[in-house]
Amino acid sequence: MDDVHNLAPPAVIAAITQATADSGFSMASDCKTGSLLRTLAATKPGGSFLELGTGTGLSTAWILAGMSEKSTLVSADNDEIVQSVARKHLGQDRRVSFQLADGGVFLESLAGSKFDFIFADTWPGKYTHLEAALSLLKPGGLYIVDDMLPQPNWPPGHEEKVHALIADLEARPDLMITKLNWATGLIVGAKNA
Ligand SMILES: C[S@@+](CC[C@H](N)C(=O)[O-])C[C@H]1O[C@@H](n2cnc3c(N)ncnc32)[C@H](O)[C@@H]1O
Repeated sequence: MDDVHNLAPPAVIAAITQATADSGFSMASDCKTGSLLRTLAATKPGGSFLELGTGTGLSTAWILAGMSEKSTLVSADNDEIVQSVARKHLGQDRRVSFQLADGGVFLESLAGSKFDFIFADTWPGKYTHLEAALSLLKPGGLYIVDDMLPQPNWPPGHEEKVHALIADLEARPDLMITKLNWATGLIVGAKNA
């Protein structure tokens, strides 16, 4: 099996990839991760989706491609310039709304909300505010993180944070996790009913 053969990315990915390269943004998700996000998104028809770390919108585009017509996605980032790429290419999709906000502040503002799917791709909701993010998951809801395998852009000391996050997720009684040594290294967790 060739896991990148026939990935069939959403059409908009080509334009966002080009804009991402033009912008110099270097933290974009890869296509394998996107493909998994699309598949998992398709398991939550009519679902409420949350993305922490829009970047230029590559993962956003894959998630939208898996979402049903009646699903909604809110995607937050604190960098107006990179998020403007996502707004430009995806903002016409009425299912998505973009929040320009610090992820931690935004997560706190969501207290009491419930989501079927959270892709945590920035510091808040992953290395900080983990409890706040997981408290937003519905029973059966999915929590997904990537970049769990060493990446060239990791700052000094980041590896220890990754190990601590993995240990934390492994120990949680409220989450059924699977670790994938694939793509950039992913963990998929499902909230216990
Ligand atoms: C790994 S990138 C996201 C990549 C994106 N999901 C993709 O698939 O291409 C992390 C993003 O987090 C954003 N970010 C960093 N600190 C943040 C914070 N405190 N609150 C919200 N976003 C933050 C950065 O601007 C960056 O766009």
